[in-house]
Amino acid sequence: MPTRTDGPRSAPATGAPTSPAGRQLRWVVPLLLVAVAFVGYALPPYLSLDPSRSRLPVQEAHPQYYPLLVAHILFGSVALLAGCFQVWPWFRRRYPAAHRWTGRVYLFGGVLPGGVAVLGVAPLSSTGFVSQVGNTMLAVLWLVTAVAGYRAARRRRFVEHRRWMVRSYALTLSIVVNRLWVVLFVVLLLPQVDTTYGGDQDAMIRAAAGASVWMSWVVNLIVAQWWLDRGRPRPAQGAATAATVAAVSSAIRPKSPAATAARGTIQLPPTASTDGRAR
Ligand code: HEM
Repeated sequence: MPTRTDGPRSAPATGAPTSPAGRQLRWVVPLLLVAVAFVGYALPPYLSLDPSRSRLPVQEAHPQYYPLLVAHILFGSVALLAGCFQVWPWFRRRYPAAHRWTGRVYLFGGVLPGGVAVLGVAPLSSTGFVSQVGNTMLAVLWLVTAVAGYRAARRRRFVEHRRWMVRSYALTLSIVVNRLWVVLFVVLLLPQVDTTYGGDQDAMIRAAAGASVWMSWVVNLIVAQWWLDRGRPRPAQGAATAATVAAVSSAIRPKSPAATAARGTIQLPPTASTDGRAR
């Protein structure tokens, strides 16, 4: 995830890397390793295009399910890998042209085709209605956040662009976190198979899968928003600043021709913009 500042900091006594690029490696390397490991595990059975190797039940009644699932996994893998470079601040600053190209790969070779394909898969999910709704919602938000980020970049609103893209990648990563939530919920619900689920293990799995679909992207989105808002003025502080600026502005508003002539010599401090251009 991006750091808030690239400014110098005092060196810790441990001798650990202190440059911003060095600090970023502490989360970029694990992120890359997790993304590569996930793709390395998830993708191979689908590269053969052999439905019998699918980890999910192939839905015979819906012939479009398997090709769309494969397309979704291929494009999803591209998004997962390309996104690591997009959220890496050092890479963005050092190689801006490469950042633009990987950004296009992330969007046009990953999220857009992957998100559209999954819209045909999510409503058919074998893990039940709660998963179907959660995955469809995730697919829509995945598309919306990436398109919003792209539009902001085209309009050169780079602060907005970065914020949308961090949200978009948090949604992409939800697929990895999802696997951890499933394990947690299965472990939690297993003792209730005979009681709450009347011995129906599939019903318990459906409940665990549904809960993990929702938890994976909702929690990721909350964490991403917290990350983006760290260090920003709280609304109350922002309101107080706006009130102070308004009061100062009204106090210095020219009231006489002489004062009008002096207009322009007083500069108010810049206020936060809503379009992301001047922060
Ligand atoms: C963020 C938006 C995503 C949504 C809404 C989504 C949704 C889905 C859905 C609905 C299924 C089928 C589940 C079923 O039929 O029960 C699925 C399967 C799968 N998805 Fe995604 N997915 C997303 C992102 C990704 C990404 C980025 C990857 C990266 C590789 C990925 C990899 C997979 C894999 C490998 C499967 C098959 C499951 C397995 O073999 O274990 N998905 N996804």
